[in-house]
Amino acid sequence: MADPSQQPGITDSASQDGRDSTLNLQRMTRRGFIALSASVTSCSMVAPKKPQGNAANVPPSSAPVRTAANQDYRTPAVKGPVPRNPDLSLSSEFSKGAGVSYSRVLVSGNFVAMTFDDGPHPQNTPRLLDMLRARNIKATFYVIGRSVDLYPQVLRRAVAEGHEIGNHTHTHRLLSKLGDSEVRNELSRCAAAVEKAAGVRMRTMRPPYGGLLQRQRELVMNEFGYPTILWSVDPLDWKRPGPSVVASRIQSGATPGAIILAHDLHSQTVDAMPATLDGLLRKGYKFVTVSQLLAMKTDPATAQAQAES
Ligand code: NI
Repeated sequence: MADPSQQPGITDSASQDGRDSTLNLQRMTRRGFIALSASVTSCSMVAPKKPQGNAANVPPSSAPVRTAANQDYRTPAVKGPVPRNPDLSLSSEFSKGAGVSYSRVLVSGNFVAMTFDDGPHPQNTPRLLDMLRARNIKATFYVIGRSVDLYPQVLRRAVAEGHEIGNHTHTHRLLSKLGDSEVRNELSRCAAAVEKAAGVRMRTMRPPYGGLLQRQRELVMNEFGYPTILWSVDPLDWKRPGPSVVASRIQSGATPGAIILAHDLHSQTVDAMPATLDGLLRKGYKFVTVSQLLAMKTDPATAQAQAES
C-alpha cells in the first residue's frame, strides 16, 4: 500500500499557496463525503428490508445459532511458500528423493509448471498477477533479490495470492564463472531479501542463464536444500518475438510435466499470457507450482501403467 502521506492534498502542497490547499481540501472533503454517504446508504438499505413480515414465516429452528467469538485462534506464522490452490490441494512436499536438478518432471497427468524469471517488476508483474488470478492459476516466480528489495510489495502480493517464489540470485550473475563463496553469497542474499519482504523461505533455485556446473548444483543442494530448476520449454521471449509467437511456442512445446520458462520482466511476455494460458487450459493442462510438480514425481513404470489404465 502507498504511504498515506504521499497522497496528494494531505501534506506538502498546503504550504505552497492558499488556493492549492483550498482545492485539495474540497477534493478531500468530497471524497470523505462520498465515503461517508456510501457507508450510510449501505447500512440504511439493509436495516429496514429485514423485518418485512418475513420473520414470522421463518421457523425458529433455521435461525443461526449464536456462538461466542473465538478468541484463541491466531493466524499461524508463515513458514514456507505454501501454495494455496483451492481446486488442487496437492502436496508440495518433495524433500524425499528430490534430484539435484530438473528440466521437467515425470508425472501422471497433464500438469505443467509456469515459471516467470527476473522479477518482480513494478508494472508487468502485477499485470501478470491479475491474469493468473482471473484464471485461478498458480505459478512460480524466480525472483532477483535486488528487485525484491526495490519492489517488496509486489512480492508480497504474489505470495498472498498463493504463488511460489524461487531463488534466482541477488544480482543475476553467471554463477558458473563464480567461486563457491560468491555463489553462496548470491543465493543467501536473495533468500534474505525474500524472507524480509514476504516472510517465506524458498525451496528451489534457478541459475541465471541456466548456468550452473554439476559440482555447484550439488553444493547448492547440500548447503541450501535447493534443487536446481531448469526448463523444458523456452519460448525465447527475452528476444521479444511478439506476443503471438511467444504464445504459440509455449503451447506447441508444452508436454505433461513440463517446466515452462518465461520472464515477467518483459511486457511482451505478459501480453502473451492470456492467449498462452487459455490455450493450455483448453488443451486440458493443469497448472501447479514447481514444488507441487516435484512432489508428483513418479517412476516410468507407474506413469506407463497409469497412462494405459
Ligand atoms: Ni534470469
